[in-house]
Amino acid sequence: MELKEIIRKEFKQRFGVEGTVYASAGRINLIGEHTDYNGGFVFPGAIDKVIMAELRANGTDKVKIFSIDINEYVEFGLNEEDAPVAQWARYIFGVCREIIKRGGRVEGFDAVFAGNVPLGAGLSSSAALESCFAFALNDMFNNGSIDKFELARIGQSTEHNYCGVNCGIMDQFASVFGKKDHLMRLDCRSMEYEYFPFHPEGHKLVLLDSVVKHELVDSPYNKRRESCERVAKRLGIETLRDATPEMLESIKDDISEEDYRRAKFVIGEKDRVLAVCDALVKGDYETVGRCMYETHNGLSKEYEVSCEELDYLNDIAKECGVTGSRIMGGGFGGCTINLVKDDLYDTFIETAKKRFNEKYGHEPKVYDVIISDGARRVE
Ligand code: GLA
Repeated sequence: MELKEIIRKEFKQRFGVEGTVYASAGRINLIGEHTDYNGGFVFPGAIDKVIMAELRANGTDKVKIFSIDINEYVEFGLNEEDAPVAQWARYIFGVCREIIKRGGRVEGFDAVFAGNVPLGAGLSSSAALESCFAFALNDMFNNGSIDKFELARIGQSTEHNYCGVNCGIMDQFASVFGKKDHLMRLDCRSMEYEYFPFHPEGHKLVLLDSVVKHELVDSPYNKRRESCERVAKRLGIETLRDATPEMLESIKDDISEEDYRRAKFVIGEKDRVLAVCDALVKGDYETVGRCMYETHNGLSKEYEVSCEELDYLNDIAKECGVTGSRIMGGGFGGCTINLVKDDLYDTFIETAKKRFNEKYGHEPKVYDVIISDGARRVE
């Protein structure tokens, strides 16, 4: 059965009526990691893996939700003190609260949801969940009057205020603004964005999921952000977007060695995003790939958000002659994203599975990337 049918069946059984179905997507990011909260550029796209939910106003002041994947039912009120304990429900509670805080309307509703975005793989399942509900509640109770950037910010504030992750805007932006066959370059300072058609001729994008648990809550993610903010403050600028390598060198002796390395990565990464966008337009996949390897190296050695398993997957890619490969997303586990020539694809996947299995006792999961639409009402 398709996801939509599974959800419709469950909703009908539980609530006896029919609601409206909405979906929002997980994301990949070709390049531009840990740049969003530094006012830099990112280059994500939404993927064909979604969180889908059916909702219906229930005429009460209660929210009643069933998660098919977790097989758990949660009920909560819409006031601040009603925060649920279950983490998945806190994402939805947070979205409701953030809409209300901004003067929007949310009334009681019934909902059933499920998804096929792998959890903890760095594909932003939580942003997909937030964006799906933000989009739905905007459509149901606010006549679509909340603009798309605000919907993304509602998801981001949910992470900050209800989930303890001080994330940037990339994931929610990608989930809300995603467009089939297009990557999006977002300037996280001006919030200007541009769609880039994505048809990497002769190549495929494939993710290898190390299945190492990726959990940004309580992870050193917030610590990385603090390092960047400390360096920016020391330089007297708002974010590292405005820093140059020379500026960083000039304060090297006044900051910790660790903060120096973190900032060095971010300053280099911001230029790589622009280089990759230019190269992509010219069909210069060699440059795209080289930048991806540079990013991996920086994320592993300078920003230190990789892990042994992901470094190993990166090494295998390099040895197989894969055009580009790097750890993707916040880090601390999850996937590598790989740009692979069509005729190398089968050999690469086979080799990666075999060698990873020999070393870690299980194969990495393989997801082919299909760039798809973001938040939407499902017909
Ligand atoms: C996580 C965060 C994003 C971004 C990435 C790293 O996915 O949610 O805001 O910072 O990590 O690029």
